[in-house]
Amino acid sequence: MQGKLRSVINILDLSVGELEHLMDLADRIEKQPEEYRDRCRYKKLATLFFEPSTRTRLSFEAAMLELGGQVLGFAGASSSSAAKGESVADTIAVVSNYADIITMRHPKEGAPVVAAQNSTVPFINAGDGGHFHPTQTLADILTVRRTCGKLEGLTLGLCGDLKFGRTVHSLIDAMLRYPKNRYILISPEELRLPEYEIEKLRSSGAEFEETTSLEDAIPKLDILYMTRVQKERFFNEEDYLRLKDIYVLTPEKLRNSKESLAILHPLPRVNEISVAVDRDPRAKYFYQTLCGKQMRMALILFLLGLDE
Ligand code: CP
Repeated sequence: MQGKLRSVINILDLSVGELEHLMDLADRIEKQPEEYRDRCRYKKLATLFFEPSTRTRLSFEAAMLELGGQVLGFAGASSSSAAKGESVADTIAVVSNYADIITMRHPKEGAPVVAAQNSTVPFINAGDGGHFHPTQTLADILTVRRTCGKLEGLTLGLCGDLKFGRTVHSLIDAMLRYPKNRYILISPEELRLPEYEIEKLRSSGAEFEETTSLEDAIPKLDILYMTRVQKERFFNEEDYLRLKDIYVLTPEKLRNSKESLAILHPLPRVNEISVAVDRDPRAKYFYQTLCGKQMRMALILFLLGLDE
């Protein structure tokens, strides 16, 4: 499959065929890393992070380094000229002269659209506000495919901050493209999935239900996708403190789950999964971060046209 100058802002920018291609490529990279270790020689990836990140930025950088390429960029708006008032459009126009591919995280929803319009090299959204996080979704679907052996006919429980959790919105968008998946939305009233995402579930004819009870949902699930309450998106500290520990997954709560359950979390975790769960074979969230690096390797190769 030939890459071309294009941007990935939303997971829907990739067709189902392209998702399958990227997952197959990630599997090949895992099996034969030596075949890929020089693929991006003389290529540079710019990582422009206007918001904090551990996994996304470092896995993008590790991905490019493992492909034999080089990386440049910044971690934090305060160390870039954004602190002096430079616009996203100007920043991207400049960085397009320094790198062959750009990834950017920005707190403002929609900033990646402006970035992509001003980029002369392939551009990847690494997360914009409460909006989209397509490369996290690539990590999530590879983890599901590898642990469940399929991406269809699954019951997914999405738990926690479904309002601000951009990874949840992107994951629903991706999983709706695979048939017969069922969704259990577990959240307090204040953090319900936004109406526009509910409407997508409704109009696609997907089976879904909303509940406040994690315990009631667990026995039905093939996938449990836990999320952090997004402190940085709250306007009111009091509301955050009231809601932050509303769901805490413990070994006791897993007693009635399927043995084949896969527990995912985009991380960082704060308190929503007890560390005692980490030893449980159903916990896949650290493995998910490895899948993320491999999918970012696949995406870089694809967008640079170096995947074949
Ligand atoms: N999952 C995720 O986006 O993690 P970081 O914020 O650490 O990149």
